[in-house]
Amino acid sequence: YAAAFYRPAPLRPASTSVDADGATVNHYRITMRQADAQILPRKKTSILGYNGLFPGPTIELEQGTRAVVKVRNQLPKNHPKLGYLMATSTHLHGSATLPEYDGYASDVTPAGFYKDYHYPNFQPARTLWYHDHGVHFTAQNVYSGLAGLYLMHDPVERELLPQGAFDVPLVISDAMFASDGSLGYDDRDRSGLWGDVILVNGRPWPVMKVQPRVYRFRILNASISRSYRPTLSTGDAVHIVATDGGLMPATQSVRNWRHGPAERYEVLIDFSKYRPGQRIELRNLSNPNNRDYDHTNKIMAFDVVAPPSESAMKLDPKWNQIPGTLAGSEVMQLTRGDAEEKRSFRVQRADVGKPWTINEVTWEDVIASNFKLASADPRLGAVEVWEFENKSGGWFHPMHIHLVDFKILSRNGKAPFPYERGPKDVVYVGEGEKVELAMKFGPHKGRYMVHCHNLPHEDHSMMIQFRVGLGED
Ligand code: C2O
Ligand code: CU
Repeated sequence: YAAAFYRPAPLRPASTSVDADGATVNHYRITMRQADAQILPRKKTSILGYNGLFPGPTIELEQGTRAVVKVRNQLPKNHPKLGYLMATSTHLHGSATLPEYDGYASDVTPAGFYKDYHYPNFQPARTLWYHDHGVHFTAQNVYSGLAGLYLMHDPVERELLPQGAFDVPLVISDAMFASDGSLGYDDRDRSGLWGDVILVNGRPWPVMKVQPRVYRFRILNASISRSYRPTLSTGDAVHIVATDGGLMPATQSVRNWRHGPAERYEVLIDFSKYRPGQRIELRNLSNPNNRDYDHTNKIMAFDVVAPPSESAMKLDPKWNQIPGTLAGSEVMQLTRGDAEEKRSFRVQRADVGKPWTINEVTWEDVIASNFKLASADPRLGAVEVWEFENKSGGWFHPMHIHLVDFKILSRNGKAPFPYERGPKDVVYVGEGEKVELAMKFGPHKGRYMVHCHNLPHEDHSMMIQFRVGLGED
């Protein structure tokens, strides 16, 4: 543990306006460009970043404030190391966005052009992230640095959970570096891309100084393929309070949890029981079918420092406790009985080197159909149960459904893990596992993607689409 902890830079709106219906709109500008990042000591790493940063700048706003983000593609025309054309599509992961702004993989913006993305921000408070979704090159683009946070607050979450300096994002990723500091790329068999260096907010194995009090960590696994099983070196439990779609109905205390790519878990850690001078490590117990290296069993460390003056500690007593009951969002009320349709999806590939498929369909098939091929046609407002079954043998698949939040009804016929009993948009479908999900389709009509968030799987070509409210046309 060497690097100092870094908190991603905030992005302030360039201007604000008021919509016809009176809602405030924040206007942001982001330019994607190549830049040199200071990731390793004494070496520069060339990245492709939003505003030249890795991770990109953090957008933070209140529920009900709309956003328009002008994303300019000022990247090199071709990827500097890999040569393919840099055509990008920006997706705000976790947002119920209209289809034309959702980062549809084939809706790309070439170098030299820009696109305005409109985000409604009406959902419950949550940790979202924006990342590239360009067709066939999402893995390389995100790995090169195109990922950033987007934090939405609401009054319920403001009341219950630590805020400000005690509300800390942890974007975990992994990378490999050449001796000159440049990023190494290796997904040759399209099974995944694993690095030997663990980064938190773009810094290797950092150390963060913490006061002896409760902290909230918004943990995003932004890795291309790696899943984690974080745990504290003390063996103490952490308290999971929110999942991808925001607050869970009740806090779940666990000693470790399985954390797949693109999943978000918000975790409270109570450092008040440790003494100043003590170091607590956040370690990684790993999961099957990751490529582990000597130091991938560590994530970061916390150094407990002496408490500040009484008055500073007294500022916010209500945020210095572990709440038990949180908030039951709409999706968490859904039951199997509400569903008007049940659909099943098998995820697999015929052989190494063959494409990854969902019910034998690939994104290549969707392209070949001129984007007409849809694997599901839910009615607008319909509740459905979707089942994902992993028939691929020795791989796990973090399956992501755009537009909706879902509730995990069952995992292998049993209850879901305690820490995943909250609103989700990515579900970890482990080796041989089967999950059932309940969700309500809306509020927008249109075409949306479903895919594996192990990004080399997505790119080759484990992605399909569904159409909301268009089936009857
Ligand atoms: Cu985070 Cu379709 O992606
Ligand atoms: Cu996969």
